[in-house]
Amino acid sequence: MSHRVAVVAGDGVGPEVVAEAVKAVDALGVGVEWTELPWGSAWYHEHGRMMPEDWEEELRGFQAVLLGAIGDPSVPDHVSLWGSILELRQRLDLWANLRPCRLLPGIPCPLAGRGPEDIDILFVRENTEGEYAGVGGRSHRGLPGEVGIEVSVFTRAGCERVLRLAFECAAQRRGILTSATKSNASRFGYVLWDEVAAELATEFPSVRYERVLVDALAARMVRSPDSLDVVVASNLFADILTDLGAAIQGGMGMAASANIAPGTSEIGIFEPVHGSAPDIAGQGIANPAGAIWSAVLMLEHLGEPEAAARLLDALEAVCSEGPRTRDVGGTATAREVGDAVVASLRA
Ligand code: NAI
Ligand code: MG
Repeated sequence: MSHRVAVVAGDGVGPEVVAEAVKAVDALGVGVEWTELPWGSAWYHEHGRMMPEDWEEELRGFQAVLLGAIGDPSVPDHVSLWGSILELRQRLDLWANLRPCRLLPGIPCPLAGRGPEDIDILFVRENTEGEYAGVGGRSHRGLPGEVGIEVSVFTRAGCERVLRLAFECAAQRRGILTSATKSNASRFGYVLWDEVAAELATEFPSVRYERVLVDALAARMVRSPDSLDVVVASNLFADILTDLGAAIQGGMGMAASANIAPGTSEIGIFEPVHGSAPDIAGQGIANPAGAIWSAVLMLEHLGEPEAAARLLDALEAVCSEGPRTRDVGGTATAREVGDAVVASLRA
């Protein structure tokens, strides 16, 4: 049986890294049927929108989307992101964003004296509400009294589903769940989040639950990343913490993510954590590891755990033995890394 996957390669380095992920999945022989959707900033310049109006209709019938990155200097970022990935996450209610942050052997770590045994964190990001709920407005535009209001939205149901998932993940890993909030300064949404977390903690006696202020957690990720197992956080906080996480796992090019709605049959969207990297786009030097790792997460979602494990093994072997791209200490191109992953799968 073949799996139907839509490819939104997008902008900048997106197409460069996604091509390597597609190639690696094809080498597994699991029967994925790809359909390219040309959405992104070029589509915007032609059609005045990032995606067609009936995008939900177009995505029907696919089990997953493999996404590169969206964003181009020629389109304001809030227009491109709200017209694409944020719209997709919210409208499809893909409320969980899983971001494994693991330092693979062979990849240089910017933290002195730290190695792969120290950095293995799973971030569970709330993906539809919080600070990116899209609620707010602007008024008195251009006047001295101009106002911009951005409202964070936290619902009990939204907190509960993502916190429950994080507890479940922790129970299956090393049994530690760290919840990042800022409930000393922000008294409403994060306090609701904390209360729901404390209630759920009683259902998971095997998990050591801790509540940490997000600023302290940022420092702890640098000082003692080995003390962290699963970290759950709001949309904005996890967005920021996972760029820090990407840095300690070797760089933006290494980090992968899955946008999913666990417990439903909804399509999943799999994308590297990085953006379109306009500073290196078109040079063929982007690291495809995050995109390939995202394909690993996609294969798990498609019910192909063996293929997923094989692909992750191959990626780990290439990171360990090279070739590597320059952001992780090598000189290879994206294509050379992709070719090496394919060769490792065939070996
Ligand atoms: P970015 O992640 O694109 O780049 C940050 C830094 O990481 C740059 O120095 C870049 O060269 C490097 N980098 C990123 N991916 C890499 C890779 N695969 N290999 C090697 N180095 C890599 O973030 P930035 O510059 O803040 O945003 C650029 C654009 O991407 C903006 O338009 C932004 O809105 C968009 N963006 C889109 C996202 C998405 O599609 N989900 C996520 C984040 C940003
Ligand atoms: Mg981000």
